[in-house]
Amino acid sequence: MAVSLALRFHQSTKYAPETIGNHPGLDWERQPVPYKQYHSEGSVELADLLPLDPNPFTGRPPEAIEPWHGRTLAALSRWIYFTYGVTAIVRHPGRDQLLRAAPSAGGLYPAEMYVAVRDWPGLAAGLYGYDPQHHRLVMLDEGDGVAKALGQATYGNAAIDAAPVVAVVTAVFERSRWRYQERAYRRVLLDSGHLIGSAGLAAQAVGLRLHATAAFCDGRVEAALRLDAEEEGVMAVLGLNLPGPAERPTWTALPSAVGEGQPTLVELHRASRLGEQRPRLVAKGEASAEALETTHGWTSGDRLRGAGCAGPVPLATDVLGTVLRRRSCRRFARAAISRDALARVLAAAYLPEAVGLGEQPAFDRSLLASFIAVCHVDGIAPGVYYLAPHQLELRLVRSGDPRDAVRFIALGQDLAGDAAAVVFHAADLAACVRDLGDRAYRYLHLDAGVVGQRLNLAAVAEGLGVSGIGGFFDDHTADVLGIPRAQAVVYITSLGVPADG
Ligand SMILES: Cc1cc2nc3c(=O)[nH]c(=O)nc-3n(C[C@H](O)[C@H](O)[C@H](O)COP(=O)(O)O)c2cc1C
Repeated sequence: MAVSLALRFHQSTKYAPETIGNHPGLDWERQPVPYKQYHSEGSVELADLLPLDPNPFTGRPPEAIEPWHGRTLAALSRWIYFTYGVTAIVRHPGRDQLLRAAPSAGGLYPAEMYVAVRDWPGLAAGLYGYDPQHHRLVMLDEGDGVAKALGQATYGNAAIDAAPVVAVVTAVFERSRWRYQERAYRRVLLDSGHLIGSAGLAAQAVGLRLHATAAFCDGRVEAALRLDAEEEGVMAVLGLNLPGPAERPTWTALPSAVGEGQPTLVELHRASRLGEQRPRLVAKGEASAEALETTHGWTSGDRLRGAGCAGPVPLATDVLGTVLRRRSCRRFARAAISRDALARVLAAAYLPEAVGLGEQPAFDRSLLASFIAVCHVDGIAPGVYYLAPHQLELRLVRSGDPRDAVRFIALGQDLAGDAAAVVFHAADLAACVRDLGDRAYRYLHLDAGVVGQRLNLAAVAEGLGVSGIGGFFDDHTADVLGIPRAQAVVYITSLGVPADG
């Protein structure tokens, strides 16, 4: 049997204190443009349909409010905008930076969105590229052939087959690799996960339903979108469905082979492809999810579930407004957050349906273990805890103030050291690869991004500051979490009181 490329890639892209200084430096002349610039006559303008006053795209106040729920062009305009639209502009000499609804490591925005329309008011059937600069869809191909091809590419997934609009999330590798070298693969997957997390919440807010799958035949999607697979990889296929019961059958994660080769991001992406035939479904039953629930179960836990999260969380009543306000916190005050606020943020991330956010996307959540470093939370003793995701129970791994350790492992960033609480995602990568092949690497990082996006938005809705942290010393982080260094630390999110109020 081949040695897993995912395991080798993860090992070779670890940051360590001895090697972190080896980065060759950035070549600013070569920084890629962080969005596609389409040159086409056939575009559908969506900007007038946004509820922004003044509307930065048109300079005009919003038009009379059109119906914007369900199967309407205004709902689609909002769904795309609140998923990945431009929500702020930072002026720089030379090139303005467009900040998007979903965050991105280093603000590099490798993700792209394409929309295949089968049947939607105001849009001819066809494939469109999303142009964020103007908030419009640019037609790339006519007819419903691409939507049909995406149904085939997802092996007849009923939610994709039924969707009147199917979106594809891709990543242009070089936008992130330019800065992060091969480790960029982790970040493009996390970024895509954030985008998909936003897409799920925005769909719910406009009266639609999102099904996200990463179980697709890569070759078929690449062919349908005419992508150059060396440059741009497919991350996920999203079905935007009408309200009603969920379609069946669907699959969100299927096993790939394990590959050999050089541990570069392109080779790992290639090694983890799925072919034309649907791979066998992995019958894991409840066993792995159960394992997440019982880990560290020998210590007496602190159940957060009751604390302040009976009924909808603040995010549930204002998803769209929260997306507009969301920015990554740049500096935390060293101040406490409340146990109830932490409980609500975690409930939104891990139990969205229970707190009024509806069914939200997940790829294979039985793979990801969560930990929290509690630095400054009223009513919870400082320490590192394991989080049982359904019971929302904190189980002590080690007691004591973790601030210095957390600052160190996050490459010395104050964003971790001054946080009130820091959430970690980790996984037993070898076990994941045994179940799902090298493609497990994608599912793990996508899921961590999806959960990370709900953490982000729920925190902002609570008035807290929040930021993703993709740069960390892998092995030292594993030590702090009390897991073997052979396991993978996937992602970090820091939460706290913003320093600027
Ligand atoms: C996957 C991921 C990793 C990130 N890692 C870091 C980090 O290590 N340090 C940091 O200061 N910000 C980090 N960020 C925050 C980004 O810098 C931020 O999202 C980006 O600059 C865009 O700004 P916005 O989030 O305010 O829209 C990360 C964001 C994401 C999504």
